[in-house]
Amino acid sequence: MKVLLINGSPHARGCTYTALAEAEKVLKEEGIETEIVSIGTAPIRGCIACGKCRQLENRCVFDDDIVNRIIIKAEDAAGFIFGSPVYYASANGAMTALMDRLFYAGKVFAHKPGACVVSARRAGTTAALDQLNKYLMISGMPVVSSQYWNMVHGNTPEEVAQDLEGLQIMRTLGRNMAWLLKSIEAGRQAGIEPPVPEAFERTNFIR
Ligand SMILES: Cc1cc2nc3c(=O)[nH]c(=O)nc-3n(C[C@H](O)[C@H](O)[C@H](O)COP(=O)(O)O)c2cc1C
Repeated sequence: MKVLLINGSPHARGCTYTALAEAEKVLKEEGIETEIVSIGTAPIRGCIACGKCRQLENRCVFDDDIVNRIIIKAEDAAGFIFGSPVYYASANGAMTALMDRLFYAGKVFAHKPGACVVSARRAGTTAALDQLNKYLMISGMPVVSSQYWNMVHGNTPEEVAQDLEGLQIMRTLGRNMAWLLKSIEAGRQAGIEPPVPEAFERTNFIR
């Protein structure tokens, strides 16, 4: 059982990483395998709405950046934590580009628990969280919560280390995710499988 933690920041060991690492610490203590993947500083294309991913099984047509590599890792993961710094009260641009293509091309998330966490100097955290949580909620993922909204505050990892409540939120999140993963696995062993989806009823409002 593995949890994939995505660090959407250009800083591989920055504030977002510090938050993710705190959740990861607890997941490991709970016996859950983990991997933190940083998206780094290389460009990530935005979705061009070409629709080619409908013909390619769980792959984006663009294979020259990190998106397909994360989809491949996501296929084997049982749970996810998506972390982003807050840029202008949203997830940063690279993370938004990643999430658009990851969820549009990679149909690998349904019924797998997920959570989003954000890091900000001061404000815009709940707006960014709302944005990120929507990817999970349109994908049939059980959204894991904590004792507060999943955020830390700081401009540097050292400042985040002083956000004792923020770090506790991350630990509680990790513990809740471990509990849910183990519960789902226990259910599976008892014969409880994910629900079979209905045929998709797609209603466009102008037709
Ligand atoms: C372009 C840009 C926009 C930012 N916008 C916000 C913002 O809206 N609110 C805020 O509190 N901090 C903002 N920040 C600060 C970062 O969110 C904050 O330093 C974050 O913790 C950095 O995380 P990281 O070290 O993982 O990259 C911004 C930073 C940059 C570079």
